[in-house]
Amino acid sequence: MAEINLLRRYPRTKRNIEKRNTVQSEENIRIAREYGREYFDGSRDTGYGGYSYHPRWWTDVAQDMIAHFGLKPGDRVLDVGCGKGFLVKDLRIACPGLEAFGLDISEYALMNCEPEVIGRLHLGNCVKLPFPDNSFAATIAVNVVHNLDREECITAVREIERVSPGRSYIQVDSYRTPEEKELFLSWVLTAKTHYDPAGWKQLFVEAGYIGDYHWTIIE
Ligand SMILES: C[S@@+](CC[C@H](N)C(=O)[O-])C[C@H]1O[C@@H](n2cnc3c(N)ncnc32)[C@H](O)[C@@H]1O
Repeated sequence: MAEINLLRRYPRTKRNIEKRNTVQSEENIRIAREYGREYFDGSRDTGYGGYSYHPRWWTDVAQDMIAHFGLKPGDRVLDVGCGKGFLVKDLRIACPGLEAFGLDISEYALMNCEPEVIGRLHLGNCVKLPFPDNSFAATIAVNVVHNLDREECITAVREIERVSPGRSYIQVDSYRTPEEKELFLSWVLTAKTHYDPAGWKQLFVEAGYIGDYHWTIIE
């Protein structure tokens, strides 16, 4: 199990991140957690405020993931919480012949996916991955398992471990200081489980997770 930032070359967010004066409203949180149009392509109050493919945003990340896991054409790789399939698309651009697939709970995201990944994205919940044990050469889950409550989060982490034992990467919301936690809490919409890195490492041990991991931290 290694702490390694495979998203280090993802462009840093351009938005002006300052602490919000009000916490998110319960209504906005409810809407965001439906993972429909309002979450991906509605206003910033309920989600991304526009979730669009940008050439190069995931390209370097895809290359780093391929190198890290030694992926080659013909290998199967799964992106859990794939959204519209941006990473799945760029993994296949970076490594032609790679059998990249995605899974997401959002029908909206799958119905609005990148044309290149049509047929590669599965509708499902990460607490029960519809794949046999040891199906993938690597599994990736960026900013998804923290959206579940603690028990379900552990189940999802076990599922990721099951479909590609010891060969996965999980990235989750975290904070290292009281200031970072306060900033995070003023922005959080969908995450139900969040810890500092030590808390996450404890959860990973409890889940029997031996893959790699890193943090999404608002700074
Ligand atoms: C913050 S987005 C991250 C999307 C993508 N991984 C990325 O980094 O751009 C969270 C994604 O997880 C999906 N999601 C939320 N809960 C899920 C669940 N229980 N099972 C599968 N996907 C889920 C959402 O629909 C959304 O696409």
